Amino acid sequence: MNQTRPKYTNKTYPVMLGRKLRRVYVWELPVRVFHWLNALAIVVLCVTGYLIGNPPAIMSGNEASEQYIFGTIRFIHFAAAYVFFFNFLFRIYWGFVGNKYARWRNFIPTTRRYWKEMWEVMKVDIFLERCREHVSVGHNAMAGFIYFIFFLMSGIMVITGFGLYASMSTWWFPKLFAWVPGLFGGDFVLRNWHHALMWFFILFTIVHVYLVMYHDYVEGRGEISSMGGGWKFIEEAQFQEDLRDTEEQEQKKKKEAAHH
Ligand code: HEM
Ligand code: HEM
Repeated sequence: MNQTRPKYTNKTYPVMLGRKLRRVYVWELPVRVFHWLNALAIVVLCVTGYLIGNPPAIMSGNEASEQYIFGTIRFIHFAAAYVFFFNFLFRIYWGFVGNKYARWRNFIPTTRRYWKEMWEVMKVDIFLERCREHVSVGHNAMAGFIYFIFFLMSGIMVITGFGLYASMSTWWFPKLFAWVPGLFGGDFVLRNWHHALMWFFILFTIVHVYLVMYHDYVEGRGEISSMGGGWKFIEEAQFQEDLRDTEEQEQKKKKEAAHH
């Protein structure tokens, strides 16, 4: 009997035993489209931005006036910048109209519970303690808060980027940012800020991709594929708890509204 068993059985991963899972639609299509457009735009912005900051000496026998490599690199940076910017604006809007997992409440720590959950996640994910982690249906509190910082940084990248672009562009929109270089003490300082902040996005990506894989592996709830199809597999008890929380919050809101 034992010989016919596959190598990885429930015995190997007791966490899988007797789990009743429910398929929950967590990330709506607009959130998924935002995610992948944003990820792609940032990779392109980091690569082209890095090249702008550290231009390689490209050796070529061609006549200089026939070359436009740097023009192309800068064009790609600016095109990706527009995609990044409008996608970001769209996500801000979706934080007001999207489902409960997409809303701004998930990103901003305003309650005691939010801070408590952040601490629990920290104990498991960073200190690797073996206690039972709070398993949330959407983003966990720590992830939500880091995404909040991520969105703030995105805003700063847009302001510094368009600030640099204002004097290079003929369109009215970037010119709206013409006041930015003055605020930072000139183009040179502004460029250095814009450059240094790129490293936040590189660090974020490394930690983010690691943690997403870690959660996918440890929890076995389809974490990675949830950003593809939108669905996660949630334990029934956990799902019911999440439902109760939502109802409680909605009742609280109604009470507050009635009070006013
Ligand atoms: C995550 C987003 C972004 C990253 C990682 C990024 C990265 C960079 C880096 C590393 C540089 C080189 C700075 C240096 O000279 O050392 C740069 C230049 C620049 N970036 Fe960005 N950038 C981003 C978003 C934007 C946005 C939204 C705009 C808006 C138009 C923008 C416009 C510019 C401009 C105008 C330059 C100067 C180009 C030049 O002088 O040739 N960037 N970027
Ligand atoms: C292989 C690459 C990637 C995978 C598999 C991936 C997967 C995921 C997953 C599963 C989530 C939801 C996790 C949660 O609940 O906390 C998520 C959220 C997020 N990821 Fe990624 N990601 C990748 C790359 C990136 C990159 C390169 C960026 C940007 C630099 C990024 C930015 C974000 C942001 C901002 C969110 C929050 C989404 C929202 O609520 O709007 N991801 N990602």
